[in-house]
Amino acid sequence: MNLIVFGTRPEAIKMAPLVLEFAKETSCVTKVCVTAQHREMLDQVLDFFEIIPDYDLNVMKPNQNLYSLTATIIENMKAVLEDAKPDFVYVHGDTTTSMAVGIAAFYYGAKVCHVEAGLRTFDRKYPFPEEFNRQLTGKIADYHFAPTPVSKQNLLQENVRDINILVTGNTVIDALLLGVKKVNQESFKDSEIDHLKGIVDFSKKIILVTGHRRENHGEGLIKICTALKKLALDYKGIQIIYPVHLNPNVEGPVNELLSGIKNIILVKPLAYAAFLWLMEKAYFIITDSGGIQEEAPSLGKPVLVTRDTTERPEAIDAGTVCLVGTNTNVILKESKKLLDDSAYYQSKSILHNPYGDGKSAQRIVNFIKEL
Ligand code: UD1
Ligand code: UDP
Repeated sequence: MNLIVFGTRPEAIKMAPLVLEFAKETSCVTKVCVTAQHREMLDQVLDFFEIIPDYDLNVMKPNQNLYSLTATIIENMKAVLEDAKPDFVYVHGDTTTSMAVGIAAFYYGAKVCHVEAGLRTFDRKYPFPEEFNRQLTGKIADYHFAPTPVSKQNLLQENVRDINILVTGNTVIDALLLGVKKVNQESFKDSEIDHLKGIVDFSKKIILVTGHRRENHGEGLIKICTALKKLALDYKGIQIIYPVHLNPNVEGPVNELLSGIKNIILVKPLAYAAFLWLMEKAYFIITDSGGIQEEAPSLGKPVLVTRDTTERPEAIDAGTVCLVGTNTNVILKESKKLLDDSAYYQSKSILHNPYGDGKSAQRIVNFIKEL
């Protein structure tokens, strides 16, 4: 019996292909549990992929803290595990949900399967607390589904046995391909996309922005917003679209610093369909998101990453991703290069797929079936 557990928007996007792949298997029972570490942003993804969870812990509290979130998840998972009686529990990546569910599954005695295993910055404070969460989940896990050879290598260096690691590609690409196919269907109607068509001038160059990392809260976010403001004022012919994360530590300052600027459009987090549609329309992207760094190469979109380090070196090597940190001048300089120098822009917008071929979930299911 399989139990797939996730709690935030990116985990939901990246676990949805696995849920759908296991649903095709008649030989085993698979159940889905959501912690709902995120509520609205998780539900947007569940709706898009038409997933109805078997268990919903509904743990999200406004402006929640890591202590109570971790404790509540571990505490609440006991009843779920005792009811579902899983042989295998699947967790994803590096969130508090992944780490806490991993611990609970270990206590229960299930085999822990870590999807998107082996990403590392090797600095436990960056990103915080994600690097520590994934290292800990890696210690707990019995099976490690590494997205790339680099992530497998990281695990081998930590003495994980080769036989317990499978390089799968990243399920984010499975989700992306499923998503793009759905969005491009003629019958597909989406009120958010219709709304965007009404408020955005798509004849202009679109810069898409997101951000939420804890270590950027406060000063970092202020410096990023200052760069966006200057860019918008210097380049009247661009439109900056910023779907603002619901974390109050992000929503508050961003609304305060960037409201009322004519060519900056602030919107609520977009459902996956509208976000994919907008990514395809973007000229380039400024973000600190992990998932967007992985999606952008497949769409050929340059990305300025507002972080000093990344656990995703593959897209830097391929040229799509450029680390700019949170320094206002560096963000401005790199943005202007992309806007002003078309040869440079072309060199950064080459389509490539370092993160997978859309068959990652299938590989995971086959691996488990063969155990
Ligand atoms: C979490 C993850 C981070 C992941 C990010 C993806 C941890 C510690 N952090 O960070 O790794 O990259 O999600 O977005 O696991 N909120 C809502 N509605 C929502 C979602 C969030 O109101 O649907 C607000 C709530 O006030 C909540 C707060 O955002 O308390 C913070 O949510 P939380 O999951 O703790 O942190 P994120 O910054 O979202
Ligand atoms: N995303 C979305 N709507 C938005 C912004 C992002 O659906 O308004 C998607 C995006 O395509 C990617 C994922 O959310 O798949 C990234 O989530 P986030 O940046 O919150 O978390 P991270 O990847 O950094 O953990």
